[in-house]
Amino acid sequence: TSPFAPRHLLTIADLTRSEFKTLVNRALELKTAAKSSKLPSDLASSLSGKTIALLFSKLSTRTRVSTEGATALLGGHPMFLGRNDIQLGVNETLYDSSVVISSMVSGIVARVNGHSDVADLAKWSSVPVINALSDKFHPMQTVADFLTIKEAFAAEGVDDLKGKKVSWVGDANNVLYDLSIGAAKLGVDVAVSTPKGYEVPQEMRDLINEAGSEAGLGFSLTETNSPEEALSDADIVVTDTWISMGQEEEKAKRLAAFEGYQVTNELVKRGGAKENWKFMHCLPRHQEEVDDEVFYSPRSLVFQEAENRLWACLAVLEAFVVNKGKIE
Ligand code: CP
Ligand code: NVA
Repeated sequence: TSPFAPRHLLTIADLTRSEFKTLVNRALELKTAAKSSKLPSDLASSLSGKTIALLFSKLSTRTRVSTEGATALLGGHPMFLGRNDIQLGVNETLYDSSVVISSMVSGIVARVNGHSDVADLAKWSSVPVINALSDKFHPMQTVADFLTIKEAFAAEGVDDLKGKKVSWVGDANNVLYDLSIGAAKLGVDVAVSTPKGYEVPQEMRDLINEAGSEAGLGFSLTETNSPEEALSDADIVVTDTWISMGQEEEKAKRLAAFEGYQVTNELVKRGGAKENWKFMHCLPRHQEEVDDEVFYSPRSLVFQEAENRLWACLAVLEAFVVNKGKIE
């Protein structure tokens, strides 16, 4: 065993309420500093001579670009290792890969299939492992999403997100689970609408509600099969693909099951969202889950949200790799 037990980020549930808040605030601080070329010089060289391994078994645009970019901003070297580059889970056990890779790098950012794969990598790694999307969680997306929500409300003069409402229309998936855990930690209510048979699993419902109770700010998770019902009083409307990576074979079945769940102005209006509602989507996006009118509208925060992946990753790498999991 290693003398240094690293702290990993596998889900937002790994963070306390105050750590999550600090990470989001820090992402904003770093964004502001970097945009005026004022990143502190000790931070900008904090990973100098160090390597961050990116183990990606699935495709990625945002997560890859933001992680490589954030590593460079810290003076480090990002080493991208795709599915066809290394022996991860093929011809070599995860244990062996984790021990070997972590012996040569300062951090691992891993996008794998089953959540147990990234959890196993973390268990055996001698350096911090950051989940870059598993079938259950997407923590760096959540940090970027709350940075985006914070900015959107700050533009309206609102600092405290407590009591705001996020309404999710679509599939219950990895992005939703961490988003909801993050929301719970900040006292932001969540309403989820999914078709029958695609609801939030009990294990996730428990985790989300537990985060709400621990935070103690007041939190409600409501679930329904009616998008209109979930959209009532929404401040932020969110969706994601109906067919996550790894579910391609279910495409026809899912497209049929999700009929009526496309986010459109008409649907949101019928539901009775707040007048100034905003739209978010982690991307990549397809027409079926949200039409062009909403996606490319001034309400849409999607491109700011995508850019914020860079600033979120910068804050996460600083917290977990540079500061070894100390977040204050
Ligand atoms: N949102 C997100 O994680 O995008 P990528 O799959 O392109 O990394
Ligand atoms: N739910 C999607 C998110 C992609 C960033 C997936 O898992 O494919």
